[in-house]
Amino acid sequence: MVSATSSLAGLTVVVTAGGTREPMDPVRYLGNRSSGRMGNEVALAAALRGADVVLITTMSPASHERIRTVAVETATEMHDAVRAALGGAAVLVMAAAVADYRPAVVAPRKLKKRESLTLELIPTVDILSSLVHDPVRRGVVMVGFAAETDDLRSNAARKLVEKHLDLIVLNDVSRADIGMGSDHNEVTVFDATGVVAEISRRSKPDVASAILDLVEARLPEGPR
Ligand code: CTP
Repeated sequence: MVSATSSLAGLTVVVTAGGTREPMDPVRYLGNRSSGRMGNEVALAAALRGADVVLITTMSPASHERIRTVAVETATEMHDAVRAALGGAAVLVMAAAVADYRPAVVAPRKLKKRESLTLELIPTVDILSSLVHDPVRRGVVMVGFAAETDDLRSNAARKLVEKHLDLIVLNDVSRADIGMGSDHNEVTVFDATGVVAEISRRSKPDVASAILDLVEARLPEGPR
């Protein structure tokens, strides 16, 4: 059950959601299957706990009077929006599925059909890694998601360390009954010491609420 409390009142929570879209030409892009639902539910759960939420998303946003939405398309735009929102924030939850590559060249006109097409792809900015030494993240509880199909736990633990995160939420994206495109999720949450919670299969609002309980336990005590 999602209930309204004021446990995050006075705090800003930044959430990213959806998959980024990396343009090839004016009408086509490279994207992924992320629906934006998990990020939306985290944003909504935080707003219901009294937080001021900045929801940076490529998809249709959750609606609540305490959610401010920033619409983005690409990894670069999401990066800029996250940096702009982070000053003074208490929490960042990176639920977005950020593309790892983008076309090296964006054609100014619609690409015409031909025998074959070879696209050169170049890496996008890794938003969380780019923040590792950035003063703007100082004091922010940093939460990442790990979308994995194999070596789930070791990959998640590695990303937690490499991206200097407080928590990482492991999603098995090979399963059709949870995660991307599903109304449900089942996740394992890690901190630097190892597994801190196994959240069994449940609705995304309930998963979001369980994640926020773990985040709240990491917030500093004191007046806001
Ligand atoms: N992420 C990011 N910038 C990127 C890619 C990912 O900030 N360019 C964030 C995601 O929002 C997520 C975390 O990093 O919170 C892990 O994302 P994931 O896609 O699981 O891993 P990658 O770092 O992309 O690594 P790989 O593709 O090798 O699994």
